Amino acid sequence: MLNKNSIANLIVTTNLDRSEVKILLGHLLRFTKAQLITHNDYILNNSQLQEFYELCNQRLLGIPINYITGTREFYSREFKVNSDTLIPRPETELLVDTILEYAKAGFSLLDLGAGSGCIAISVKLESPTLFVSAVDKSPKALEVAKFNAANLGANVEFKQSDWFSNVDAKYDIIVSNPPYIHPEDNHLDNLSFEPLDALTDFYDGLSCLRHIITNARNYLNNDGILMVEHGYDQGVSVRELFILNEFAKVTTLCDYSRNERITLGAAVN
Ligand SMILES: C[S@@+](CC[C@H](N)C(=O)[O-])C[C@H]1O[C@@H](n2cnc3c(N)ncnc32)[C@H](O)[C@@H]1O
Repeated sequence: MLNKNSIANLIVTTNLDRSEVKILLGHLLRFTKAQLITHNDYILNNSQLQEFYELCNQRLLGIPINYITGTREFYSREFKVNSDTLIPRPETELLVDTILEYAKAGFSLLDLGAGSGCIAISVKLESPTLFVSAVDKSPKALEVAKFNAANLGANVEFKQSDWFSNVDAKYDIIVSNPPYIHPEDNHLDNLSFEPLDALTDFYDGLSCLRHIITNARNYLNNDGILMVEHGYDQGVSVRELFILNEFAKVTTLCDYSRNERITLGAAVN
């Protein structure tokens, strides 16, 4: 019979999704997924049990599992996250794929709204000849991004800036995953633990995108490319903004769920 405080028993009896129990146990005991299986007869001592139940309570209160463990996997690397940073989304990996497709050796790249630094750091590590800079208006998010860059060994320049306010160079590629959720969108109710100003513009969902698309040409080299992530229902409006601002070759890409997700265009003079 299973000991009630063993890993194997806690996985089946705890009142949470089993995959989440495994993540919490792995985090608490510093066990890999494989170790949780090979050591599933491991019996938690009293203080470990108490900590385990505290973690479960946090999850039951709705705190995202990534804020509890303090980490999130993005582009196959582990990033530190906390309540000052958005939890990187799988859709955003498509933005990294797209950057890597367009970036030639030695290109310069600016990421607007770095958050945890997941885009800038992944791009730099995948393509080390690129010169990568990233800005965010949140000093606390920048602290996390700098930690991630140092921890993962990525040479990325980070600075505080309200979009372009502190940007004084031109780039071959500018990318952004800005706050684009409409303030009245019901989805925000389920995201209450993430920083609200990383999610919404508190206006019409398009104001950050509008600001970035309207100003980006001043910070792009000739033939430079602007790429932005946006909401599944914002493709038409975002393409209009690109065209209004005289970008060429305007294209929208769909994510793995076939939603319009990334729009890009070239700044041709
Ligand atoms: C949707 S999050 C994206 C974070 C990260 N790039 C990612 O993809 O996970 C948007 C980011 O934009 C930042 N941000 C919001 N307003 C900004 C502004 N005016 N200037 C610079 N960054 C801003 C937020 O702090 C947040 O980190």
